[in-house]
Amino acid sequence: MAEEARPSRTSATATKTPRSRSLSRRRLLAGGGAVAVTSAAAAGGAALLARSGREAEETSTGPPIEPFFGPHQAGIATRPQTHAAFMAVDLRPEVDLEAAVRMMRLVSDDAERLTSARPVLGDQEPELAQVASRLTVTIGFGPGLFTGLGLGNRQCDGLMELPRFDIDRLRPEFSGGDLLAQVCADDPMVVAHAVRQLGKTLATFARPRWVQRGFIQPVDGRTGAGRNLMGQVDGTVNPVPGSPDFDRVVWSDEPGWFAGGTTLVLRRIAMTLDTWDELDRVPREQAVGRRLDSGAPLTGSVEADAPDFAATDRNGVPVIPPFAHIARARPRAGQERFLRRPYNYDEPTAAITSDSGLLFAAYQAHIGRQFLPVQRRLADQDLLNAWTRPTGSAVFAIPPGTQPGGFIGEGLFT
Ligand code: HEM
Repeated sequence: MAEEARPSRTSATATKTPRSRSLSRRRLLAGGGAVAVTSAAAAGGAALLARSGREAEETSTGPPIEPFFGPHQAGIATRPQTHAAFMAVDLRPEVDLEAAVRMMRLVSDDAERLTSARPVLGDQEPELAQVASRLTVTIGFGPGLFTGLGLGNRQCDGLMELPRFDIDRLRPEFSGGDLLAQVCADDPMVVAHAVRQLGKTLATFARPRWVQRGFIQPVDGRTGAGRNLMGQVDGTVNPVPGSPDFDRVVWSDEPGWFAGGTTLVLRRIAMTLDTWDELDRVPREQAVGRRLDSGAPLTGSVEADAPDFAATDRNGVPVIPPFAHIARARPRAGQERFLRRPYNYDEPTAAITSDSGLLFAAYQAHIGRQFLPVQRRLADQDLLNAWTRPTGSAVFAIPPGTQPGGFIGEGLFT
């Protein structure tokens, strides 16, 4: 039974064994022609269908499971997990509306299984799926998905491409994308496995564009504020999940299919840590406007204190410099707010220099009204800009959540 249950995406004999049942189910879902799932990819799925109920029981005492179904997709209001991968793909030209629906059914099915500690159909390492570690899979649609599928007139108001900023040094390998899978969990093995399985499903319909991986320190769940690689407490001023304020800032109330969705701006921002290291603590703290040890504003004593931007020292010099990061980033109008849920990255380099920075992820109902004015201001003047450089940028509409029997993005396609 154990052997029979083990799926094989590559087995050449798949169609001659009882596993062929899975083949037909997978084909049914994926459809024929150019976007048909290969027989190898399909093998073994049905056996897992039979198995999945038992596995759910087996893992019921395992680490916490984040619910997949609900009015909003998980992975946004979710307390940040310690590891993340953002994977973007571009739809193949032959993918039409019908194929896109099949793709979203499959991706939603994969996400539901993986997040509830069950392997996907055709999972060749099903043992890796037995731990959920608060896994969330969040799906987003880039502007290219709407135009590519002839749905330009159904694109949500909240989504827009960002203009080019003078500070940008964007690289194509970190930018754009028709479809995003944001995968977060407290265990990097779980993230890696989920990314691989989702990637295999998506490969039938799309070409890979980029994968960006990040990590944070475990956070205490109260403030959600951890530290970034510049050593700063990052995440202090943020809407609090579950509050009416959070709902207003993050979830769209646009009428139609996008109600309950949100948008994501993902900016890859390199930190030039080698020159940052040349500064002592005073200019470092002035660049942000907060203390490095406690995260308190320069005018306060604890992290939660409200900054006093009008305060001056005995020489009449502002305590928080007017071009400090928080002085520039704070909202000028009520709408200019969003949820920040960033991850750090630190890539290997050949030399003893760093390739580190932030995968800056901002979620808001409407990019143009909420995110853009703040980004414009920071691009214009921000002391931190001397040690940071945006190298990637992408925007996505994150559709609302789904219910059993449904799939992510259903309202857009039907
Ligand atoms: C590598 C790049 C960045 C670093 C290291 C950074 C770091 C920080 C730090 C340490 C804080 C203060 C603590 C907190 O409230 O979280 C902060 C606040 C903030 N940052 Fe950034 N940040 C970066 C990029 C950005 C970008 C690109 C935006 C938006 C376009 C942004 C928007 C904000 C906002 C809105 C606040 C809160 C301001 C307030 O006090 O109201 N940050 N950031």
